[in-house]
Amino acid sequence: MPKPKLAVLSGAGISAESGIPTFRDANGLWEGHDVMEVASPQGWQSNPELVLEFYNQRRKAALNAVPNRGHEILVELEQWYDVTVITQNVDNLHEKAGSSKVLHLHGELFKSRSTVDESLVYQMSGWELNLGDYCEKGSQLRPHIVWFGESVPMMDDAARLSRAAEVFIVVGTSLVVYPAAGLLNTIGPEVPKYIIDPNMPSISSMPNLFLVEKIGSAGLTEVKERLLRSYGL
Ligand code: APR
Repeated sequence: MPKPKLAVLSGAGISAESGIPTFRDANGLWEGHDVMEVASPQGWQSNPELVLEFYNQRRKAALNAVPNRGHEILVELEQWYDVTVITQNVDNLHEKAGSSKVLHLHGELFKSRSTVDESLVYQMSGWELNLGDYCEKGSQLRPHIVWFGESVPMMDDAARLSRAAEVFIVVGTSLVVYPAAGLLNTIGPEVPKYIIDPNMPSISSMPNLFLVEKIGSAGLTEVKERLLRSYGL
């Protein structure tokens, strides 16, 4: 028997317990910057040095971060489910925890890419990316991040996975950024949908919706217990 398909949409909140701050807690500012200054094509055009430095600092902070109990539970669920994690997070904590299928909707902090050929993507070993770091075609490298106003190339794959899901978990996202937030609307009515967040985002009512108003580790502990009970475990 194939394992049932479980899709997870995760956001910044799941990494909060690993010491990586969420985005929308400080009046729309990230580390004191307007988001458009550091996370948009216009910001990159007008001050690439600032953008590179902003991501260098975030990379530095993420380098030593360790996954928390929430990330671990998603790995444990692979014993019973065919789990795919669709994450809006650019950190690599799902991979560090051991999740085997992770789709990064908004890019990856530890990858860089060419500014002339977006198919040229490079794994980074350290935390620094600077002006003068070039791709193999001789153009400046930029963070491999989906900025505001850019298209989301992984969206079709994410929508396909959501439509195929037999169980869906949303954890630690304010559900305000589209198209990611729209994934909820692609899920079948019969599919159980668990939403875990200590400050529950407003969600239009839909069938089989279970709201778990808790932080990631506690909420996922509860959801794991409920899912295993459905297996008689
Ligand atoms: N556990 C679970 N959830 C938490 C925790 C926690 N310990 N702490 C905070 N949260 C919740 C908040 O209540 C909020 O609903 O996590 C959510 C974080 O929301 P955002 O900061 O908006 O992050 P996210 O939804 O991932 O942002 C989406 O927007 O900034 C862009 O591209 C960026 O991927 C990001 C996207």
